[in-house]
Amino acid sequence: MAADSLSNRSQAGASHQADPPLQVDQLRFVWPSGQVALDACSFAIPRPGLWMLVGGNGSGKSTLLRLITGLLEPNSGQIRCSGKPALVFQNPDHQLLLPSCGSDVQLSLPAGLSTAQRQEQIALALEQVGLAGLQQRPIHSLSGGQKQRLAVAGALASRAQLLLLDEPTALLDPDSQRDVLALVRQLCSPTPKPGPGLTQGSLPGPITALWITHRLDELDHCDGAALVRHGRVGRWQDGSALRQRLNRLPLGRGER
Ligand SMILES: Nc1ncnc2c1ncn2[C@@H]1O[C@H](COP(=O)(O)OP(=O)(O)OP(=O)(O)O)[C@@H](O)[C@H]1O
Ligand SMILES: [Mg+2]
Repeated sequence: MAADSLSNRSQAGASHQADPPLQVDQLRFVWPSGQVALDACSFAIPRPGLWMLVGGNGSGKSTLLRLITGLLEPNSGQIRCSGKPALVFQNPDHQLLLPSCGSDVQLSLPAGLSTAQRQEQIALALEQVGLAGLQQRPIHSLSGGQKQRLAVAGALASRAQLLLLDEPTALLDPDSQRDVLALVRQLCSPTPKPGPGLTQGSLPGPITALWITHRLDELDHCDGAALVRHGRVGRWQDGSALRQRLNRLPLGRGER
């Protein structure tokens, strides 16, 4: 653990148009076991949008997201987020804590809101993810894709502007996978189009998503993709071009 953890991570009070949503410099993290997860890791997300990371098992992707959210402290290096980060897990059952959709989103709201403001913010967050009117719905009755949408609603309710998604579609059926990807794609678009449950008035400000995937077809939908190898993030590339290159490699997922 870093002796002075606050010096390693910073978050601007309010995001500025010119600030990159995320900047990582010379990040190093070593597990207590001595396993080096990240070493001399430097990269930046240049602008809001949907950015994807792909890499072999154990290359350091999940550890990186935990460092960005502050769940772990780096041994050295700097992380700067221009807005609030929020993590969306692979398994929404590990994230959703309360019995109904409305109560779960409420948990993520900032403090100091009146009852009316809380109700309004909950309704807005549910609407933003296409779950309008489901405040009272028991979470156990939601599909896997709806649960992931709810997890995103919680992140939006917390006023996060940087969504960190760790293989969010790995446990979903193909339809739900496409659905969640389309939602995040839409939230991260410069001029998001109103869609089912997403009206012009409910659209959030510019959102950035950093999305980890092992599903190469998802790379076709991002604004840029990078390979993570041995605890370092490579340069941003066109997602489709990277998918085609990786598809041609006669390598297993763990060797990429
Ligand atoms: N809790 C932990 N304690 C010790 N070592 C860990 C722990 N979690 C991960 N590691 C190690 O840190 C390294 C990076 O792991 P990480 O989970 O970040 O990889 P990943 O890229 O997310 O892999 P995957 O694609 O399998 O999810 C690996 O060597 C892993 O074994
Ligand atoms: Mg992982």
